[in-house]
Formats: sequence, structure tokens, C-alpha cells
Amino acid sequence: MMAASPQPVRGSRSNADYLCVDEFMRDLVGARALQSALELGLVDDLLQNPSADFHSIAARCRLEPRALHLMLGMLRANRVLEERGGRFELTEPFRMALKYRDLLEAKLDFAALVAADFAEMFTALLAEPDRFFERARIFDLFSYDRCFDSTPDNLALTRRWMRFTTTLTKYEAQACIDHYDFSACRRLLDVGGNSGEFVLRICKANPQIRATILDLPLVCEIGREHVTGEPEAARIDFVGAGEDRAILPSGFDTICFKSMLHDWPDKEMQEFLERAYLALDSGGKLLIFERGILETGTGQIPYSLIPIMLFFRSYRSPAEYETPLRRIGFREITIRIIELEMPFMLITAMK
Ligand SMILES: C[S@@+](CC[C@H](N)C(=O)[O-])C[C@H]1O[C@@H](n2cnc3c(N)ncnc32)[C@H](O)[C@@H]1O
Repeated sequence: MMAASPQPVRGSRSNADYLCVDEFMRDLVGARALQSALELGLVDDLLQNPSADFHSIAARCRLEPRALHLMLGMLRANRVLEERGGRFELTEPFRMALKYRDLLEAKLDFAALVAADFAEMFTALLAEPDRFFERARIFDLFSYDRCFDSTPDNLALTRRWMRFTTTLTKYEAQACIDHYDFSACRRLLDVGGNSGEFVLRICKANPQIRATILDLPLVCEIGREHVTGEPEAARIDFVGAGEDRAILPSGFDTICFKSMLHDWPDKEMQEFLERAYLALDSGGKLLIFERGILETGTGQIPYSLIPIMLFFRSYRSPAEYETPLRRIGFREITIRIIELEMPFMLITAMK
């Protein structure tokens, strides 16, 4: 008899305060003005000089009056700052968002890098995906073929996109940690684990875990640097993957794929799951933490989500993972939907 499909459980979004950064990136004009304000030192200036007047800001930021007037107006309209009696201050909500400044800056930079793909080629993305794939900047950014030879150019390119994956993961990881009990885990393998940021967060919360990241050689090289200096570094290893994706290392009670499987077409995604099944200890757990299908709901997709939206074809429903998991032999499959800036899925299964 076929096992009944698990009912997805809806998770809470209580630990996602960091999403407040998106409030300042709802549209391109407001977000671009904020990015420039950060680049020009205007935000830092207002942090150091609360309640500053127009002329003192102009002098310190070296902006001519018309440029500063335009900039302050755009920032005010975006609720980054407010004016009282001719003096300018950062708003309280924006000060809160600055607690997550690395995320704010990474999201602004990521969206700006690929916004032209949307502005110039959205029709192709919808109707001629192959043409989009050939010309879009987002695929130049994520050049996995440049992650093998350790040259200065390749390292610089790889670091550039790893900044985005690492910063998003730093914050997204908490939702997984909140909703999955890692207390029985001792040996964890993160396939496509990137800079190690995901396992670093898990290891911080679970001192019994030793973790291994399997990723492309240059990604591992940069990842080793990333975790060096962390108290958990001695519990985190990196293993370089070959181009053939042949086998996964064994000896793990937990194998996870975070935001990794959507990169692959169905056939390769299923091969990764099959290899994970072979590599896992008997009774071991598989964990998939992935973005779900992007829905517009009643509101428009915000500017902050443009980089994610460009991959809209890659995101799957829970059933598209559950069916192959079941066929491969995994059991006790659970599905949890966690609402972050879009739905994420936490799927667990046992060998
Ligand atoms: C979209 S990124 C996700 C990274 C990370 N897990 C996260 O959530 O931010 C996909 C990752 O898969 C890695 N990758 C690509 N091909 C791989 C392979 N054959 N074996 C292992 N990792 C691979 C990439 O280098 C990248 O780090």
C-alpha cells in the first residue's frame, strides 16, 4: 500500500526580524537612492550626526545642494529619514534595519547587479528562456565553471557571488534551526554547502555536531577562509567536489541540501537524492531546505526579490521532492512550509 502523502505543516515567521530590510527595497527608485546614500557615506554621516542640518550634511558628504536636496527627498519618501524643523534624522524603523546592515547592503548590491536582466529581458525570460539564459548577467555572476582553477580572477568572481549566498544564508539558517531538532545529529554533510555559513550556524547551536561541506574547489577554498577564526572551525571540514558529481562521501547521520537542488534539472536533482540515500548511515536523516514556488499574492513582487524571481522556473512544489524521495526508499517524510520573504520548504526524510 502507498504511504499517504504528508500534509505540509505551516511554520511561524517569528524569527525573521531581519526581513525588515526589505521594507526599504520595495521599489527600484527608493532602493537605488538608499544604495547611493550608503555608498556616499550619507547614512553613516546621519548615524554620527543625528539631527543634522542641510548645510552641514552637504559639506561633510561633498554633495552640491541640488543633488543633496533630491537625495534627501528620495530617502524621506522611502522612510529612511525624516525632517523636523530643518533637521534630518534616520527613522526608527530604518535604524532597526541597520542592525542587519550586511544583509541590507548585500541585497541592494545583488538586486542592482541583475535588475537590468529584468528591465531589458523579462519578455525573453517568459517566452524564450534559452535566449535569456545566454544573455542574462545573473548567469555570468554564478559561473560555477570558474570554481575549479585557483586564479586571482576566478577567486574574485567566486567571492563576488558567495557574498550574496553567504549573507542570505546567515539569516535564513535560523528558520531551519528553529524548526528542525538537530540534537540527535553527530556527523552532518552539507552538499553545495558553499562558504560553510549554514553549517557554521548549525554548529554554533549544536556543539555535538561535526560537519563537512561538499562544494566546488574554489568555493571550498574561500569557505575555509570564511570559517577560520570561528570557535567552530575545528568541527568544520571542506571537501572539493569533482565536475562529475559522482559520489557523495559516506559516514554521515544527516545530509542536507540547502538552496542547492533548485539549481539542477529534475534528473540531476534526483541523482543527488539517490546518492544521498547511498551515502547516508542507515536510519540517517535527509534535510532539504529550499525556496518554494514564488507567489505574488495580493501585493507586487518587491524589487528586493528580483534576483530570486529571475530563477522562478527553478523552484519546485514539495511534491516534486517528495515523489522521488519516496521512490528512492526514504520514509517518514515530513514537509514544513516556513514563510520568510517567500515560502521556504523544510523537507525531512529518513533512510
Ligand atoms: C545556489 S548555491 C547555494 C549555496 C548554499 N547552500 C546556500 O544556501 O547559500 C548552490 C551551491 O552548489 C554548489 N555546487 C555546484 N555544483 C556542485 C557540485 N557538483 N557538487 C557540490 N556542490 C555544487 C555551488 O558552488 C553553490 O555553492
